[in-house]
Order: sequence, then C-alpha cells, then structure tokens
Amino acid sequence: MDGERTRPGWLLDELASAGRENLDHAHVERYDGKMDARAAEEVELLRSWGLDTSSVVVDLGCGTGQFALAAASLCRRVVAVDVSPLMRARLRLKRDQADIKNVEIADAGFLTYNHAPDPADIVYSRYALHHLPDFWKVMALRRVRAMLRPGGIFRLWDVAYHFSPGEADERVEAWCAPHGDEVDGDWARWEMEEHVRDEHSTFTWLLEPMFERTGFSIEAADYSDDGFDARYLLRATSP
Ligand SMILES: C[S@@+](CC[C@H](N)C(=O)[O-])C[C@H]1O[C@@H](n2cnc3c(N)ncnc32)[C@H](O)[C@@H]1O
Repeated sequence: MDGERTRPGWLLDELASAGRENLDHAHVERYDGKMDARAAEEVELLRSWGLDTSSVVVDLGCGTGQFALAAASLCRRVVAVDVSPLMRARLRLKRDQADIKNVEIADAGFLTYNHAPDPADIVYSRYALHHLPDFWKVMALRRVRAMLRPGGIFRLWDVAYHFSPGEADERVEAWCAPHGDEVDGDWARWEMEEHVRDEHSTFTWLLEPMFERTGFSIEAADYSDDGFDARYLLRATSP
C-alpha cells in the first residue's frame, strides 16, 4: 500500500517545509565544512546521561549525520531520520565509506517516522525542530515522547529566541550583522535573515511549556549569550 495515500490531507508537508537550503545540492555538499555539530562533545554529554552500548538512539533531522556517525560505535542501534534526500544520500556515502553497520537511515520526518521495535533510550535532534510551525512542534514532541522509553532522554538543540518580544528587532539585527556574503566557510547574512523570515524558530518561553505538555521534564537548559541558541536535556516522564 502507498503510505503517502494513507496520510490525512491536513498533515504538514515536511519536505516542503524542510528549509530551502537542505534541498540544495551545493549547500549539502558544503554543509560539513561550514557546520561543526560538535558531535564528539554531544556523545560524551549523552554518555553522562546514560548512553551506552545497549542504547537505541534516534536522530531526528540528522542532516549529513555528524552526530549519528559519532554515536554509532558507542551504542547498539542508531536510526538517522531526515526528510531531505540529499542529506540522506550524503550520510549514506559517509556511513558506507566508514563501513559502519549499525546506522539505519530513514526517509521520514518528525511527523511520519514510526519507531520500532524497541523503544528509544535517547532521541537526539539538533537544528531541525525549527522547521516546524508551533502547532506541529507540539505534534512532533508528542511523537518523540511516544518513541522513548519512560525515563529516556531527548537532547534538543535548536535556534530558539531567548529574549523578550520588545528586544526582538535589536537582537535579530545583532545576530545577522556579523555575517557577510560568504557561504562556504560561514553562514551568510542572507541565510541568517532567511532563517528568521522563513523558518519557525520560536521563543524559549513558548517552547518550554510545550515540553511539559507533551510529557517531558526539563533536566537542563543552556542558552547562548546572544539569545539565539538553546540546548535542552529533557526526560520522558511516566505516562
Ligand atoms: C540545519 S540541518 C541540521 C542537521 C544536523 N542535525 C546537524 O546538526 O548538523 C536541519 C536538518 O533537518 C532536516 N529537516 C527539516 N525538516 C525536517 C522534518 N520535518 N523532519 C525531519 N528532518 C527535517 C533537514 O533536511 C536538515 O537535514
């Protein structure tokens, strides 16, 4: 049966909202050169929160798989999920070149990935949830909660606005200002502008109640000084 046809007409088209750049061949080719996902540090952090060789890990919006590949040797199974065919192809190439056997790659998104058979111990997501508008973030968080075992950890790192509404103009301008036209080694100003204009980062004071409403407790939260980067350790509470 065609799974696509069974989806309701009101479901968000995650590929259409995946971000222009993530469907752009040149961007995907240069991605690892301009974005260091600090995967080794993230894996170390998660080891201190229980990641071990028995763990099942799901990476939602995995991109080129920097985290998924770094986690592979330290856990049992990694499922790397992304809606972008170009990102998945890049990850597949890297995985196969490194001869890594326990990373599966899923053509799915936050709203469509069906996890089975064992519940996940850890769900990871970096710089991806902001592609969903707020209603759909809540739906995605519910689905993340459902794939985790009780007590499991959701590591969420995203662009989120940690300032008050009255500061927004000044903060956004300050965030964009240091960036020039260069897209190879760094993000260009127009890419920063595109993020704010076309994507769905939200205020941390809107995001955090979503966690609590969908069955997570906030174990730790770190915010960058510029107010644009939020990193959470969330625990799946008992149903
Ligand atoms: C900025 S990249 C981040 C990639 C990786 N997590 C990292 O930190 O390097 C965002 C990724 O999210 C993916 N993405 C966008 N919307 C998505 C969705 N609804 N479900 C799953 N992945 C999505 C994009 O295709 C892209 O690969």
